[in-house]
Amino acid sequence: MATRSVLAGFGSYLPRRVVSNDELAQKLDTSDQWIRERTGIGQRHIVSEGETAVSMAAEAARAALKFAKIPAEDVDAVLVATSTPDQIFPATAVRVLNELNVKNGFGFDIAAACSGFIYALSTADAFIRAGQAKCIIVIGSEVYSRILDWSDRGTAVLFGDGAGAVVLKACDDSNDQRGLIATHLHADGATGDLLYVDGALGQPEHSGFLKMSGRDVFRHAVSKLSSSMDEALEDSGLTYADVTWLVPHQANIRIIEGVARKLALPMERVVVTVDRHANTSAASIPLALDEAVRDGRIKSGDLILMEALGGGLTWGSALARL
Ligand code: COA
Repeated sequence: MATRSVLAGFGSYLPRRVVSNDELAQKLDTSDQWIRERTGIGQRHIVSEGETAVSMAAEAARAALKFAKIPAEDVDAVLVATSTPDQIFPATAVRVLNELNVKNGFGFDIAAACSGFIYALSTADAFIRAGQAKCIIVIGSEVYSRILDWSDRGTAVLFGDGAGAVVLKACDDSNDQRGLIATHLHADGATGDLLYVDGALGQPEHSGFLKMSGRDVFRHAVSKLSSSMDEALEDSGLTYADVTWLVPHQANIRIIEGVARKLALPMERVVVTVDRHANTSAASIPLALDEAVRDGRIKSGDLILMEALGGGLTWGSALARL
């Protein structure tokens, strides 16, 4: 039987500091009611001194390895999905390899904004199927608080910081049905101005802040996310009735509910963390997975559908048997 990638371990890290909507409303012309009604967000975690993209990624990775009962020396690679690395290079992933004391691995970062975790999962799966790696930690780690204009109420209220990790392990056992079944990735650079960061290092004429046309992003989200999940199921000969849990990117409860409604998936089968984490970009799916696996909602054998859309625009889906 062909080699497959089994999701063998889950971990996450959330910054210690919790910032409520009411706290934001002390500095911005906004309110807890507006934020909850339009987004479903009640609070977010924001990094303090000592909490970085690398430190959070390493904490999430350690927890995922512990869950999988896999020693760090068995890790072949670390892929980190992030749009907010601590440095341009060395890559966050290489710093994490060092934190984990992995001496014989390789690693690199993937920048696909909020779709980054799906992109990284798909990339890691390709390495495993090709026989180039047997164990890869796929991480999403983001510090969006650093790229937000804290005086812009249209974006500042939407995002949070955090990290999540999944250990992918090669499996050749034909009796074992677990593993990634399909991933689908998409990008449309023509929509790049709908959600972007204004500038980069060494460009003082730019603000360096996240900019967004919220309504346009919203409009693209429901249709693009639904179609990429349709693809995942059609290619696999499965239907939405087979899906045990939808684990969506956590941008906005209205987008999540819109997608679930379109697919006729009851919200009881959707993992939601946006109320407590806000949008943690590439970290949101592995954070949600870790929570739902650890609290017993997601069980071995469940069919999990994941989706994300983000700046680029990039979007995609992943289907897996846990
Ligand atoms: N508090 C209070 N009022 C706010 C506000 C805030 N935090 N942010 C915007 N407003 C105001 C606007 O200024 C506008 O006021 P006006 O009518 O006087 O001009 C009004 O609320 C409506 O703004 P609009 O942007 O049209 O609201 P919306 O219903 O589209 O909701 C978003 C805004 C951002 C919540 C919504 O568009 C959205 O969720 N989009 C998707 C964003 C997303 O998830 N991006 C990440 C994808 S990975």
